[in-house]
Amino acid sequence: MPIQIVRNDITKMNCDAIVNAANNSLLGGGGVDGAIHRAAGPKLLEECRKLGGCRTGEAKLTRAYDLPCKYVIHTVGPVWHGGEYGEREKLISCYKRSLELAKKYDCESVAFPLISAGAYGYPKDEALQVAVGEILKFLADNEMLVYIVVFDKASFCVSKKLINEIEEFIDERYVETHFDKRRNHIFTHALGDARAKPAAVFADESCAPSLSDALGQLDESFSEMLLRKIDEKGITDVECYKKANVDRKLFSKIRNNPQYKPRKTTAIAFAVALELSLDETKEMLQKAGYALSHSNKFDIIIEFFIGKQEYNIFTINEALFEFDQVLLG
Ligand code: AR6
Repeated sequence: MPIQIVRNDITKMNCDAIVNAANNSLLGGGGVDGAIHRAAGPKLLEECRKLGGCRTGEAKLTRAYDLPCKYVIHTVGPVWHGGEYGEREKLISCYKRSLELAKKYDCESVAFPLISAGAYGYPKDEALQVAVGEILKFLADNEMLVYIVVFDKASFCVSKKLINEIEEFIDERYVETHFDKRRNHIFTHALGDARAKPAAVFADESCAPSLSDALGQLDESFSEMLLRKIDEKGITDVECYKKANVDRKLFSKIRNNPQYKPRKTTAIAFAVALELSLDETKEMLQKAGYALSHSNKFDIIIEFFIGKQEYNIFTINEALFEFDQVLLG
């Protein structure tokens, strides 16, 4: 998964580089800067002293010493003064310069904190938007695994309105499910019927085809449907797996093995990337052996977004995170 939002202490991230939200002196401070210096040990400060500071929006790289990663990329975010003093451009530049450095040093994975979103006062939701936007732009042309590490749940700022809408949607679906409970066996039978169709057709033993005949009539698989939909939508494989937030290796596995069974979250990520309708999504999921049910929040949230034709995987993931569900991709 090329971009992942995780809740963690960045000093614990086991990747090639972590990014430090530093200040112009590069001589340490509070927040994530303080945590990184404490975990890296005094040699980090020694190396930082030799760098001669860093301008806002720029980035410099050091070794990581006692940290579990190889490098620390120090960048200086803007102090928030209300948003009309070039704060956004400077923050964008922090991500650009840091990612360029990570690439220059052949990093395969890098973890960012939400730069400027603490002591420097940048609104967390906007800081998250800038982070996701710039990382996605970079990943359109580069292969790297990029983590956005957030410390507190409040950093996931799905707008209040959206959260309320999702909550209502979940409530409605739960009501529906409870209502359906009494009729549950009818539903099960209905489902059973659909699946049992071949058995009904083969009820007359004399007409029953052999197992190898039946196997010879395999339906289009998940992988085949995925490739067909990519062609129908006129997009490239790369566009598709990037939009699905799935990495190239996994995509190749699926492409090369028509019987590949992806995880449910991966299958849904592709449905979202392909902007499939709800019916098409259900069909695609079925091919991978899954369904969307109204008895769990994850499925209802997915149905909510696809039903609204909201196909931004990061908005969906923010909502899933907000409701403590596994993320897509
Ligand atoms: N891991 C991940 N995220 C963290 C951690 C951690 N260990 N600690 C804090 N955060 P901040 P800034 C989050 O204040 O706003 C320093 O003193 C935190 O919740 O560290 O860019 C520097 O020396 C917030 O979302 O950085 C500068 O003077 C985000 O990291 C100044 O603060 C950034 O918060 C820089 O301020």
